[in-house]
Amino acid sequence: MKPKFKGKHFITLQEWENSQIDTLLDVSKTLKEKFLNNEITNYLENKTAFLMFFEQSTRTRNSMEAGIAQLGGHGNFLDTSTMQISHGEKAKDTAIILSSYGHAIACRNCFWGIGNQFLRDMAQHATVPVMNLQCDLYHPMQALADLMTIQEVKKTTKNLKVSIIWAYATSHKKPISVPLSQSLLFPRYAMDVTLAHPKGYELPKWVIKQAKDNALKNGGSFRVTNNQEEAYKDADVVIPKNWGSWVSNQSKDVLDDTLESNRHWKCTQKLMALANDTVAYMHALPADRGNEVEDMVIDGQHSIVYQEAENRLHTAKAVMAMTIGNK
Ligand code: CP
Repeated sequence: MKPKFKGKHFITLQEWENSQIDTLLDVSKTLKEKFLNNEITNYLENKTAFLMFFEQSTRTRNSMEAGIAQLGGHGNFLDTSTMQISHGEKAKDTAIILSSYGHAIACRNCFWGIGNQFLRDMAQHATVPVMNLQCDLYHPMQALADLMTIQEVKKTTKNLKVSIIWAYATSHKKPISVPLSQSLLFPRYAMDVTLAHPKGYELPKWVIKQAKDNALKNGGSFRVTNNQEEAYKDADVVIPKNWGSWVSNQSKDVLDDTLESNRHWKCTQKLMALANDTVAYMHALPADRGNEVEDMVIDGQHSIVYQEAENRLHTAKAVMAMTIGNK
């Protein structure tokens, strides 16, 4: 029988039922209240989570590391360039060994075509829960915090018009995992989701199909457009963020002609004026200020980016508290 919570892998929210996600959100809310009230929450006393990072991180690393400490356990940060993985040690061997030393393995591996498979390989052999801290396809920790934030700010998600919008950036060629996870999750909460991007930045076809299926089953809707004005118009929530053209172009180069021809895909005050008066501006962060978004927007009255980032702590703690169990 598949585990309901304890020992359950957290690789994509597609493998978690709505009722289980609701429980994670309830626990996140409780943990947030307890954190703000300085209450002790040592539910994971003497437990160790290994936190493996192939890439840089501010929010994910620190929400996990601070989170497990606040739950009474220990987060062991592992820069994978200093592990034997960098000499070719396999996911299977790493997962079996770390399982025997602790109580959870969490990992960020965003390499295109590699990251999700690496997590799946670890999950196949681990005897403790494996948590996805972002891979080439999914970022479930981010999507869960985003859902919590939308529920806090908007109170109801039913028929909320939420637009996930591509934006121009030059900082690095970012994974598709944030818009992909949001596209799959939000229609399950009956949101009316618009995915907007220029040609060349498509998400995989199977994602669009799953997102539409999720909408159909749960009373939401999902549509794709190449027109950003259309996405901003009357929106209740806008999430303009860059992602790379990985689906059509696997080059790791950041700058190319397609990117440069879409500089105008920037979240501006003018575009925000097309949305509802109470529109919320969200971004997983880090933002490429000046390229993805004007400072006046991200620092303005509609921005909820710091609340969104703060909720990464509470949702990460909920995932750990619910999945880490006795060995
Ligand atoms: N949003 C997010 O995952 O941030 P980090 O890359 O800083 O972890």
